[in-house]
Amino acid sequence: MDLKEKISKERVPEHVAIIMDGNGRWAKNHGEARVFGHMNGVNGVREALTGAGEIGVKYLTLYAFSTENWDRPMEEVSALMDLLVQTIVKEIDALEERKVRLMAIGDLTLLPEQCRKALEAAIERTKVNDRITLVLALSYSSRWEITKAVKQIAESVKAGNLNPEDINQETIHTYLETRDIPDPELVIRTSGEKRISNFLLWQIAYSELYFTQTLWPDFKKEHFFEAVIAYQNRERRFGKISEQITV
Ligand code: FPP
Repeated sequence: MDLKEKISKERVPEHVAIIMDGNGRWAKNHGEARVFGHMNGVNGVREALTGAGEIGVKYLTLYAFSTENWDRPMEEVSALMDLLVQTIVKEIDALEERKVRLMAIGDLTLLPEQCRKALEAAIERTKVNDRITLVLALSYSSRWEITKAVKQIAESVKAGNLNPEDINQETIHTYLETRDIPDPELVIRTSGEKRISNFLLWQIAYSELYFTQTLWPDFKKEHFFEAVIAYQNRERRFGKISEQITV
């Protein structure tokens, strides 16, 4: 039986988020420079998006570049930015054809201008597509996002537009980058590392976590299906006990 047939259509996660990891190690294993790993990481992006689209996932978020990644050697940062622009330019027609809507979360003001412009153009061009939304987390970290939200909430209070007594979880949600995106039910991290690395800390409060040894450039849609099957075999209790869970 093929892996995809093992997936129950009733319980496909609406949103899957992925920490793509292991490009550098993959390159080293192949005797190449780290950038070669990132270039091959684009294959993993294609596979994950195809797998997600095939089973009806509506949102796929990829951690493409963290706030902390700005501290990597300058050549690697600039190669990653170039790769991002080239990939967007090269893949935009395919995204359009497959009805993929592109979005980005993170501090995009820090991106090189050419990169930001290419990204904004692709976001604008694909904004009406409705098959699946590909969310790129770029220059993103959760602590940056939460800090920004707290500052904006404080400003709203100061301006008299928000009463501190009225602040609840929903208020905080509306100040996050992901205000228009449902929380991910499933988070996948590749390469065997078992960390969250400052990714969607608020949004993954009840997400299932799935770790695989596979290095990101080797990630195939079958790995994506395996993760979804593992997710479907878990019981999500949201703090309740087994007997209270009906679905
Ligand atoms: C982590 O591997 C990967 C990244 C920091 C970058 C991810 C980028 C891509 C897959 C390229 C293109 C992406 C898009 C969306 C077009 P690592 O470098 O931390 O690997 P290591 O832990 O083995 O060193």
